[in-house]
Amino acid sequence: MDERRLGPVVGLGSWQSFDDDAALAREVVATTLDAGCRVLDSSPMYGGAERALSGVVRERRGEVAVATKIWARSLGEGRAQYERQRAWFGRVEVEQVHNLVLWREHLAWLEEERSAGRIDLLGVTHFSSGSFGELAEALETKRFQTVQLPLNPRQREAERELLPLAAKLGVAVIVMRPLGGEGSVIPAPPSDELEPLRPFGIETWQQALLKWALSDQRVDLVIPATRNPEHARANAAAGSPPWLGPDERALVERLAA
Ligand SMILES: NC(=O)c1ccc[n+]([C@@H]2O[C@H](COP(=O)([O-])OP(=O)(O)OC[C@H]3O[C@@H](n4cnc5c(N)ncnc54)[C@H](OP(=O)(O)O)[C@@H]3O)[C@@H](O)[C@H]2O)c1
Repeated sequence: MDERRLGPVVGLGSWQSFDDDAALAREVVATTLDAGCRVLDSSPMYGGAERALSGVVRERRGEVAVATKIWARSLGEGRAQYERQRAWFGRVEVEQVHNLVLWREHLAWLEEERSAGRIDLLGVTHFSSGSFGELAEALETKRFQTVQLPLNPRQREAERELLPLAAKLGVAVIVMRPLGGEGSVIPAPPSDELEPLRPFGIETWQQALLKWALSDQRVDLVIPATRNPEHARANAAAGSPPWLGPDERALVERLAA
């Protein structure tokens, strides 16, 4: 049985996606939710993304889990970010400390909010493998239930320490940059190369990359970002079985090399 806490599913990232464009956010999020996605990832660091998402989240609150972040160099600023999030979203399903900024200091008040039932899960994130040691240190406290990290066939450092640690501790893994990352997306091979993957429900290269990550049982959720509703719909289709086996994963790795 699959026991992953947040998934395995495809969510939606929002870095550099919407800025203050609430109309675009509504269109992309509505398509994403209609296609079966349930988790939206955001942050105070992503310009106006949280505000842009808030309208459509309120309209479809029962269908969506908000995973957002605290990115603050003081407790006061962290609490102010959280109060804005509560005004926009009502509650926060996954509250993550962005880039580990002041994570030890923020933990106490975040745990109080979780105990009060206003946050479901606490997490930590970092984009750089240079900070994976500190991410591991944070997880070892056993006070975080999720970790967000980069993972794709060209960026696999997390497989060394963090994925085994997360599995051991029962921490849910959220994958950022599943397509290679904004500005460095992994280019698609000729489409006939995807033929062996078609029995796995894969029609596009992006679905192959998303399914490559989700087929690792230690991964719960991938959060590709897109401004394009058709991309959102196609990406969502990668969130269900059948999962890839070792041979198919190795093929995706070769095609991505
Ligand atoms: N915590 C952190 O430090 C951190 C850092 C980076 C990212 N993140 C989170 O992770 C999310 C994803 O990371 P990311 O945006 O860097 O990388 P990504 O999701 O790997 O790549 C995003 C790029 O892929 C393109 N794309 C998406 N679906 C596509 C499809 N079906 N076909 C073709 N192109 C497609 C998008 O362009 P289109 O708009 O044209 O589809 C966009 O340029 C972010 O939005 C954010 O929520 C967190």
